Amino acid sequence: MRAGEGILPSQTFLWISLSGITRIRRKFANAECIRQHATSVRYPETDVAYLNENYLKLQAGYLFPEVARRVREFCGAHPEGARRLIRCGIGDVTEPLPPAAIEAMKRAMDELGHRESFRGYGPEQGYEFLRSTIARRDYRDRNIQIADDEIFVSDGSKCDCGYVLDILGRQNKVAVPDPVYPVYVDTNVMAGHTGPSRKDGSYEGIYYLPCTAENNFVPEPPKEHVDLVYLCFPNNPTGAVASREQLAGWVDYAREHDALLLFDAAYEAYISDPEIPHSIFEIPGALACAIELRSFSKNGGFTGVRCGFTVMPKSVLARTADGRRLPLHPFWQRRWSTKSNSVAYPVQRGAEALYSAEGRKQVRELIDHYMGNAKVLRDAAADAGLQAFGGVNAPYIWVKTPQGLTSWQLFDRMLRELNVVITPGAGFGAQGEGYFRISAFNSRENAEEVARRLKILRRS
Ligand code: MLT
Repeated sequence: MRAGEGILPSQTFLWISLSGITRIRRKFANAECIRQHATSVRYPETDVAYLNENYLKLQAGYLFPEVARRVREFCGAHPEGARRLIRCGIGDVTEPLPPAAIEAMKRAMDELGHRESFRGYGPEQGYEFLRSTIARRDYRDRNIQIADDEIFVSDGSKCDCGYVLDILGRQNKVAVPDPVYPVYVDTNVMAGHTGPSRKDGSYEGIYYLPCTAENNFVPEPPKEHVDLVYLCFPNNPTGAVASREQLAGWVDYAREHDALLLFDAAYEAYISDPEIPHSIFEIPGALACAIELRSFSKNGGFTGVRCGFTVMPKSVLARTADGRRLPLHPFWQRRWSTKSNSVAYPVQRGAEALYSAEGRKQVRELIDHYMGNAKVLRDAAADAGLQAFGGVNAPYIWVKTPQGLTSWQLFDRMLRELNVVITPGAGFGAQGEGYFRISAFNSRENAEEVARRLKILRRS
């Protein structure tokens, strides 16, 4: 020990003498005892609590708050532009909730208002009525054998992306598409599964799967071994979809390499092509190697209500350092029991109502509305001479920036000149540079107005 180490600095000592001792004195009335304590004990040097330094590795802010910050700044400086502003940035729904969900949530609230029907804590993994409805309607009715207790209800798939890392080892080699929904990457950074960031915003220790116009934004399985692969189809941000053969290629890879696929199907309701799978579990063998994430945000408009679920098949295994292969399901079950009390009862009733006959019809109408916008916006981008992808089986249009502009330059220009907010592709990863994303979540009126304004891009 070096001189002075482990001994309180004199000011701290003085503070303890004056305030700490006063408090101790109240607790122990024996003045003599306090005097001895204060003079004989040397406290170790202390400071504030330690930070999870993985957070220091994170690049800038989370993409959408950064977009919001720039928009706020612009609006503050340009009140006229602010009045004309149309937001096609974050993929947040704009249309009111389906009436079936509203009615169900109101009924549930009324139940909570009466002693006979009141409910307190619900099951941590979600109410049986919702788990069984999901398992039956989304899976078993489509010949996918998912048991009710393989459904875990949550407050949304963004949250599930982070939660699932609780039960996965930090040794895993993680592969993510590039561009990608930033939450997959950031949650791994926060959990300490990566090295530091590089200049282009990528992280050491993550295996990136480039998604480019050349591969139609559907990545090939890597040549080498990875343990964990994130896939999202229909894709955010590119709007791409993967064919049955492409997904089968991924399942083959996972089986061969004992890899785990984390399949984000939050946008499955937007698929219009009957040949495109809605679930990874449509692919034979996937029940042994995939976890699926789903959400009511984009079909039922629950972005603010918050409800989603994971499908954790009992047949999915993970290994321990000493070579055992254990099912993940009991650990996922355990994780929820300890860390959550699930989602509010009225919200779960609302989600259940989305599966009723009227609920399904109303969800269909919502999706048709947003996909109508997607067509308007995609056609407008093409008319403006821009190369546009997606927007057919997904509510996102992925557009090449004109005249070699970077995606943030284009963002600033569209904000300034068109008063339209888009999302810069670079925010989704290095391969997103040179692209921008237009979200179709809007009113028809706004989508048509954005279409008119996009023409200006062509002229300028
Ligand atoms: C997006 O804009 O990419 C999404 O709205 C983000 C999300 O669903 O969390």
